[in-house]
Formats: sequence, structure tokens, C-alpha cells
Amino acid sequence: MSSFRYRPEILEGVPERLTQNLKQFEDWFVLDAAELKKITDHFVAELEKGLTKEGGNIPMNVTWVKSSPSGRELGRFLTLDMGGTNLRVCDVTLSEQKGDFEQTQRKFKLPQEVKSGTGEELWDFVADRLKDFLEENPTGAQDNTSVPLALTFSFPVDQKNIRSGILQRWTKKFEVSGVEGEDIVPQLEAALARKNIPVDVVALINDTTGTMIASHYRDPQIKIGSIFSTGTNAAYMEECRLVPKLEGYGLPEDAKVIINTEYGAFDNDRQILPFTPFDHQIDSESLRPGTQLYEKMVSGLYIGEMLRLVMVKLHEEGRLFQDKDITRLRESNVVDATFLSIAEIDTSEGLDDMRKEFEGLFNFSPAVDEMKVCRYLTGLIATRAARLYACGIAAICKRNNIRECHVGVDGSVFNKNSGFKDRASQGLRDILDWPVGEIDLIALNASEDGSGVGAALAASLALKEADQIKTTIL
Ligand code: GLC
Repeated sequence: MSSFRYRPEILEGVPERLTQNLKQFEDWFVLDAAELKKITDHFVAELEKGLTKEGGNIPMNVTWVKSSPSGRELGRFLTLDMGGTNLRVCDVTLSEQKGDFEQTQRKFKLPQEVKSGTGEELWDFVADRLKDFLEENPTGAQDNTSVPLALTFSFPVDQKNIRSGILQRWTKKFEVSGVEGEDIVPQLEAALARKNIPVDVVALINDTTGTMIASHYRDPQIKIGSIFSTGTNAAYMEECRLVPKLEGYGLPEDAKVIINTEYGAFDNDRQILPFTPFDHQIDSESLRPGTQLYEKMVSGLYIGEMLRLVMVKLHEEGRLFQDKDITRLRESNVVDATFLSIAEIDTSEGLDDMRKEFEGLFNFSPAVDEMKVCRYLTGLIATRAARLYACGIAAICKRNNIRECHVGVDGSVFNKNSGFKDRASQGLRDILDWPVGEIDLIALNASEDGSGVGAALAASLALKEADQIKTTIL
């Protein structure tokens, strides 16, 4: 029996005419322990398939990060983080004391036209912002010495080494032409050369890899780095001898490597996930139908739209906002994940914060009882997202016989709403059958700085490895 309970308390006192047909939404969105276990078992098989030469839905990309930082990494690194809403530029200095570092950073919003323009425009934008940053924060390097730079690029790339990567496909509503199927490092380098910026790109990593490195640096019990944000994904350290697609690379028997799972692509062949009509609609109206199907059910970029579709359906069934003009609510993507967080943490009697959101976003003010229904629906959608998120983490643990560990999780969905952590932890408990009263054996811990310190450490490891290779050849 699942110990999971959805929380209908918010509906107490709400008139029946508003709650009558909510049962169908519970049927769609509530997932019990048995369903989560079935999904997780299929997930394990798919992770396995991704490691074979033939591959599967889940890319299981080899990152070529083969060791963990020792704590003795030193030096100054520039890092660029591109992959969601913002471009982040950091200047990180790792100092002798383990875990001690200095960091200066600046964030720039990535304009929509850059996310859907040409590759050259994208990389020029990135190089220009780096130039702005360097003008404000000079590195002090002599003109002819290049500063090492690590790029966190949060999309699936096929890597043959840590300083190159071919973009497999855009995700998260990016649609920049001329980049898919290409190595992105020479594209960035060409833009840096065009702008005369003397930096040396030494590492290309994913945000999950950066999170894994940064959080493991502080807490050796970390075995998984994960993002629960605009997108959803995880990375973990794998033994190379268990990765069939690494056969023939001549790696030492005991070698390990971080795998960036890219598991947002789980179940693209629609074998197991409990798709609702809303999931089908979100997918078919997306830029890339049939891709990232798991991510579309879980991540911040889509759960707001899910709530919007549900509210519109209830309006059409004559249940919600009957006397209101819902023109604004009919606009795609007008609701984002922040709306869900605000709705969930608003405990005021009149749901005042939620009302402000309604007025600001949709131009109308609902009755309190109607907002209670919306808050209930928000709970259903957010709980489903968190419990499905738990399936991915549980699958990595099951596949690798990890009974106990810490997971470093970064991302706005996870950090802005503590409800997500509790629900995802409950999901893990249901899937992994922890004894009642036992603490969380797989602990989800908030982590940050994957793209600052994590990327700087990856750059330092990459330089060290390049040095070792040079010494061996000499
Ligand atoms: C998408 C990207 C992946 C990234 C994740 C979180 O799933 O494909 O590379 O890690 O979003 O940002």
C-alpha cells in the first residue's frame, strides 16, 4: 500500500458544483507506488540500453570526466553557462584550502531571438557578453596568454573528448540553426576569435556534470548530480567496463567516467508513462513533438502550461470562471512554473498572492473557492511531476546497486518550492520500500554552483589530464 496521499483538504467547504468532476483529474494525475515501481523498472532497462553500442531512447552520453577533484585544484578559470533562461559568466579562483574559492559572476538574459536565430548570432552574443564581463572584471593576464575557460552547455552532446561535442539535438525550446550535428567548440572559438578575446576553451560540460562535480567536492557521499528546472536530467559516475559502447577505447579496467544520462528523453517510444490528454497536447504543440517526453511531464518549462490547459478545460465544462473573460488564459505558455510555486505557498485565507497572480497574468479576479480548486489542481500536477522525477533518480540507484547516497540537485523548480523535495523524497520512499521510520536513504540535497565552481573544477581536471598525456608522450 502506498503511503502517498494527495491532499484534498484545500477543497473543504468548496461548493460541490465546483468539485464534482475533479475525480477525473485525480485519475489522470495521481500515481500510486505500484505505478511508480513499474515505471522505474522500465527506466532501469532503458538506462542499460543507452549504454549499449546500439543505444536506445536515453542517450547516456560519455562526458570524459574521469576523476573527481582532489581538493588541491588551483587557479583561475572563466566559465560560461548556456542552457536555459540566462547566460551566466563567472570568474572563479580555486584556492589552496579545499572548498575555498572566490567567484565573480554576471547573468545576462538570453533573448528569444537569440534562442531561435542562427548559430553565428548565438555565439556572437555569447562572445559579446563575455567581452562585457571581461571589461568590468579584467583577468590581469598578459595580452598573449590565454585564460582557460569551461563552457557549461546544457543540451545533449556527443563527445569524443572533454573539449569537443557534437550537438545531438536542441531541447527546451531552443531552435538555433546551423548547430545541430556540429561540434560547438570550434563555433564558440570562431566567435571568440572574431571578437579578439584571448581565452582557451579547455572543457565542455553539461549542467548535471557540473552539479555532480561541485556537490561531490563538498560532500563525498554525493553519487548523482541532477537538475530539476526548465529541463530535467541527471549524471552519475559509471564504471567504464560496464559500458559496452566504450569497448575498444583501451581504457584501464578500473576506469570510471561521468555519464550524462540525458534522461529527459525517457519513453520517447511511449511504452510506460501515464500520458494524459494534456501531455499529448503539450507534446504535439511543442517545437519537437515526440522528443523529451519524460521531461515534458516533469520539468518547469511545461508544468505551468499543464495547469493552464486543465483550467481552460474546467472552464469549458462550465465549472470555473464562468462569468469571466478568459482570453488571456487561453494564450499558450502564459503560466509558468513560478505561478505553481506561488499558488502552493500562499497560505493566506483569501489566497491573496494567488489572486495577484491571476489579476496580473490573466486580467481577472476569481472567487476564493475557484482559486482553491486551482490550488488543488496545482498540487496534483506538481505532485505528479515530483513523483515521476523520483523514478529517474531511483532508476540510477537501482541500476548501480546504490542503497544509500546523497543526490546534489540544482534548479529553480526544486529550490523555489520545498514541496517538490518532500514529494520527490516520498516518491523515492514508495519506490525503494524504505522501512517505516527509516531516514531518507537517498537524500535529495539542494546544490548550487555547478556551472561556476563545478565547471572550473572540470577545467582544472581537463588541464591536469592533458598535462599527464603530454608527459607520457614526451
Ligand atoms: C535538458 C537538456 C539537458 C540538461 C537539462 C537540464 O534536458 O537536454 O542537457 O541537463 O535540460 O538543464
